[in-house]
Amino acid sequence: MTANAKANALIAVLISGRGSNMVALADAVADGRIPNAEITVVVSDQSNAPGLMKARELGVETVVVERRGRSREDHDRDIVRELKLREVDLVCLAGYMRVLSREFLDAFPRRILNIHPSLLPAFPGLHAQKQALDGGVKFSGCTVHFVDESLDGGPIIAQRTVEVRDDDDEESLSERILIEEHKLYPEVVARVVKEIGAARHGPATDRERLKHVNQ
Ligand code: GRF
Repeated sequence: MTANAKANALIAVLISGRGSNMVALADAVADGRIPNAEITVVVSDQSNAPGLMKARELGVETVVVERRGRSREDHDRDIVRELKLREVDLVCLAGYMRVLSREFLDAFPRRILNIHPSLLPAFPGLHAQKQALDGGVKFSGCTVHFVDESLDGGPIIAQRTVEVRDDDDEESLSERILIEEHKLYPEVVARVVKEIGAARHGPATDRERLKHVNQ
């Protein structure tokens, strides 16, 4: 985005670790697969998250909000403050390892997304790929969903399947699922950004309405 072009959506990405999905989103913004958007901040609850360095290399501002023994509500309040300060429109969880409080969810209604490495509602929580292998399923994959108060719950937006091979271990399956995650998340975020833009440009909607009235 140029300095004076206002993006449809300012995006915050929340991470706790590696940050490969965050990089996939940043790449997609940079190469135009997510138009009219800007990743304005990357927030981590872990000061040593490797993803922080990657964000800085990409020129994205980073903020660390560690929990430091505080309650979920107090911790989330600090994060929400950082996001509101930056006028964030859309929050993308990308390997962020905490369930959000009601207050956080209410601050961004239907504007918080998450990606999970299984075909939800199957295998929520940690080690989803190992859970899939242990469960003996022939297909797994990844899911992007709106976030609610439950662990990896909330309405599903899109999924991509990945075949589970007989010789797969956790690492090989995770690798192939991750490839799909890096494609699916940007696609979904592009759709949501478009919706945010449509909702924001109310006058266009009014014009549409008038057109119908005048017909
Ligand atoms: C991904 O598999 C994502 O689906 C899950 O946590 C992992 C994060 O990986 N929620 P990365 O930090 O994006 O590389």
